[in-house]
Formats: sequence, structure tokens, C-alpha cells
Amino acid sequence: MARTFSITTAIDYTNGAPHIGHAYEKVLTDAIARHRRLRGQPVFFLTGVDQHGQKVQQSAQKLGLEPKAFVDGITAQFLALWSKLGISHDAWAATTEPVHIRCVQGMLQRLWDSGHFYKDKRGGHYSVRQEQFLTEKERGPDGEFGPEWGEVVYIEEENYYFKLAEHRDWLLGLIDSRSKSAHPLVIPEFRAAELRNAVEKLSGDLCISRPKSRLTWGIEMPFDPGFVTYVWFDALSNYISFAGYDPSPGADLSTFQSLWPAVHVIGKDILVPPHGIYWLAMLRALGFADNEMPTLLVHGWWNIAGAKMSKSLGNIVDPAALAEKYGPAALRWYLLADIATGRDADFSIERLEQRYNAELANNIGNLLNRTLNMTRRYRGGTLKKCGSPLAGFVSEKAKAWDAAMESYQPHAAIEAAMEIAVRCNAHVEETAPWKLAKDEAQAAQLDGVLYTLSESLRILSILLEPFIPEQAAAMRAQLNWTAEPSTAATEWGLLPDGHQLSEPVPLFPRIELQP
Ligand code: MSP
Repeated sequence: MARTFSITTAIDYTNGAPHIGHAYEKVLTDAIARHRRLRGQPVFFLTGVDQHGQKVQQSAQKLGLEPKAFVDGITAQFLALWSKLGISHDAWAATTEPVHIRCVQGMLQRLWDSGHFYKDKRGGHYSVRQEQFLTEKERGPDGEFGPEWGEVVYIEEENYYFKLAEHRDWLLGLIDSRSKSAHPLVIPEFRAAELRNAVEKLSGDLCISRPKSRLTWGIEMPFDPGFVTYVWFDALSNYISFAGYDPSPGADLSTFQSLWPAVHVIGKDILVPPHGIYWLAMLRALGFADNEMPTLLVHGWWNIAGAKMSKSLGNIVDPAALAEKYGPAALRWYLLADIATGRDADFSIERLEQRYNAELANNIGNLLNRTLNMTRRYRGGTLKKCGSPLAGFVSEKAKAWDAAMESYQPHAAIEAAMEIAVRCNAHVEETAPWKLAKDEAQAAQLDGVLYTLSESLRILSILLEPFIPEQAAAMRAQLNWTAEPSTAATEWGLLPDGHQLSEPVPLFPRIELQP
């Protein structure tokens, strides 16, 4: 049995509705997971929501809601969107779940017992209005804290700290030993360099608690009921708490070990410091070995006309509205085709519409429709198996698709699949089946063209599975190909002699463009 491929996304913060960045990360991870399933590899795909914290507590308060009622409402929006977009996660990580709380508390207790934490009193500038400590970053150009913070006072507060700095040299060594290895720590490579620079500068320890007088909406410190744990011990631990990890001594970890280490799909903003520094140090403190450290697959950001998407700019793109208007396939396709994993891209509705019309409606949809219609008209829908001049080309593109997905580059895989569709459409124009059909002497040529097109479409329906699974299945239904899709079935020539195609049904209605 192949090893389980374990893949997670960042858990989305439930302080507001899902936006296009959240949708991208889910769709990217979903495509990678679906490709592995096509290979016959068992997959564990975990995603979820990060539900605790100060901002949630404040947002709920403003609305006069209990924090739990507030996050339940937002969580429902995320779940509805993932269902609409066909996200095929195997497990759901919601950080208010008892299994998670138990695991986090067990981890905290274990690290407290083994001397990885200490309590300390530190002072800082505190905004009474915003109920938060301010850092140097919050000072304006004049060196003062702006009026948005209201009254700012200097206060001293006791908290718990994780001895982070003592992991610095180990972390540098890990980054170096795993760079350019078959099991990289950070993908893409240039992000590993960025992480390394940050680790070089690492000096302080990590504050991991908040007194309950300031924050109640969190997981209570098991060794001190006056505190909750703050942000990272809560959020990052989801990757193991929902994969069966149990921090108690002597626990049975066999399920967990079959699901670990995972590939974490995260945005570039949460590599340094949370995933690249805190998380790896936390795992090490818990006793994870070097070869049990995860892989961090770091994707870029979708921007809007070159600018960051933000509530204050009012330019947040709502994926639920787009999926409603254009259909989930159009949105998935655009989010996977128009960005190279690791790089940023600009979100554009025009590009979404153009790609859908040009690639899905014109190239793939028309090819399927023409092929089924011609085979019906000229051959009553029955194929004759023959050799094909495109067999080598299509097999080569299927291999390129597989390699691109293996290296987490759906846009390159989509490109390889599109080359097949383009080549097939050119083949129709070059061979003009409507002319061949008029000449009895060309019957064998016509059979050859119809087989080439149908077989290419069958293979294409597998290559499209990770990106637009519903339409890929519909293509197979129209081709009357009932076998389970798999990478093994991308081999040329599996449609048997005498195969009967089904009825053509338009798959990708064109989007009417605004003049
Ligand atoms: N809750 C934390 C992550 C904890 S992981 C243990 C968080 N949440 S978030 O809701 O702010 O972001 C969730 C993910 O969406 C992150 O990986 C983030 O990088 C990604 N994106 C947020 N905005 C994005 C874009 N504009 N474009 C692409 N991805 C973006 O961070």
C-alpha cells in the first residue's frame, strides 16, 4: 500500500467572510489532492477554521453575540463555499472542537513539564480602546502612536513564554540540510532563503499566553486557569490534533504516524515567523525528529490591480458571488490557470471570462461536441479502433501534466492539457472529417480521425479531473467511459474497438461578455 499523502491548508480566520485568497488556497490544495488520488495514492486532506482570538471576541461583542455563535455563523459560510466549490477535504479542523482543545492542552502541559516555557513580567504600550499591546510598528512617522489607538498606557503584564531562541541553530541546520533535497522543507526555493535570513536574526522568545482579564475566547492554559493560550499554539496545532496526535506519554500514535509528516499549503504572509519558525520549533520541543518535519508549500497572493485586497480599500473579491454568477468550474479554472504557484497574480474578472470562453467553452467544449456529433452522424456513434498520429503527442502531454502536478504547478498542468485540446482542434481542421465522410474510399481515414479525437478526449477528461472534477466526469459520461479515472488510464488506446459513445450535452455554455 502506498504511503498516505497528507496535505493541509492554513486554517482560515473566522473574523470575516471568506475571500478570494481563501478560495484560491483551498482550490489549489484540492487540485493537488485530487491528482494524488488519481495516482491511486491514499490522501488525507485537512482544512478548517481558526476560531479563537481577540479579534473574534471583539467582533462578537460589537454584534452583541457570544463568540461561539459568531464563529458558528462564519464557519457555516466557509463550509457552504467549500461545498459549492467541490473541495474534497477528508477532515475538518475547527479549533473550538473538544478533540483539538484536549490536544492543545496536552501539548502545553507536556512542554511546561519539560521546561520549555517560563513565566515572565514584561512591560509594553497598551491601547485601552483597542485592548491590545502595541509594537514599534504601530508608531507613526512622528514616533507617536496615532489617534486611532485612543489612550495608550504603559503597563506591565505577566505571561508565559516559549523558549524559542534556543532552537535557532538547529533550525538553520535543518533549512540547510533540507534545501535542494528530495524532501524540501520549503517550496519554492527562494522562500527557503527568506526563511533562513529571518532565522539568522532570531533572538527573542515567544509569548504564548494572554491573561483572562484581557482575553477569554481561547484555550485555557492547563497549568494556570488565569490564562488562555494565544494564537499560535492554538492555530498551528490543528495540523496534528486533527490527524490523531496524542501528546500523552505512551499514547498509541500509529494512526497519526500514517498521516505524518504533511505538506502544509500556506500563503507567503504566514511562512515567517509562524510556520517556518514557531511551528518547527514547537514540533521539535515536542520531540519530533528532523525527518518528521513538514514541507511548507508557500503560495503567493492574489492582488487587485496591483494593490493588496483589504477591507479598508473595499476591494475584497467575494468567491461565493463569483461561483454563483459563473459557476464553480469557471472560478476553479481561473484560480488554477492564471497564477504560478509561489508567485503573485492580479485578479481580473475579464481574465476569468476570457479563459472560460476561450479554453473551456471554445477549445474543450466544442471539441467534445463536434466529436460526438460527427461520430453519431457518420458512424452511428460507434468507434473503430485504429492507430493514431497523435498518440505519441498526447502521451507526452499526459506525462508533462503528471510532472507539473507532482511539483505543485497546476497552471503548467493545465497548459499541457490545453495543448492536447488545441492540437485536436487543429487535427479536425487539417483532416476535414466532413469531406472524408463524402468519399467511401476515405472511410478508414475518417475512422482514424474519430478514434483519435475520442481517445484524446477520454485522456483529457482524466487530466481535467483535478481542476474541474464535475465537468470531467460529465465528459466521461458523454464518452460512455465508465472506468474510474486514474493516471494509469491516461495510457493511449484504451477505448476498445466498437466502443459506443453517448449523447452530446453542452458542458460549458459561453459567458456573454458585457459590451
Ligand atoms: N488563521 C491564520 C492561519 C493559521 S494556520 C495554522 C490565517 N488566516 S487567514 O484567514 O488570514 O488566511 C488564511 C490563508 O489565506 C493564509 O494562508 C493566507 O496566506 C491566505 N490568503 C489571505 N489573503 C490572500 C490573498 N489575497 N491571496 C492568496 N492567499 C491569501 O492567516
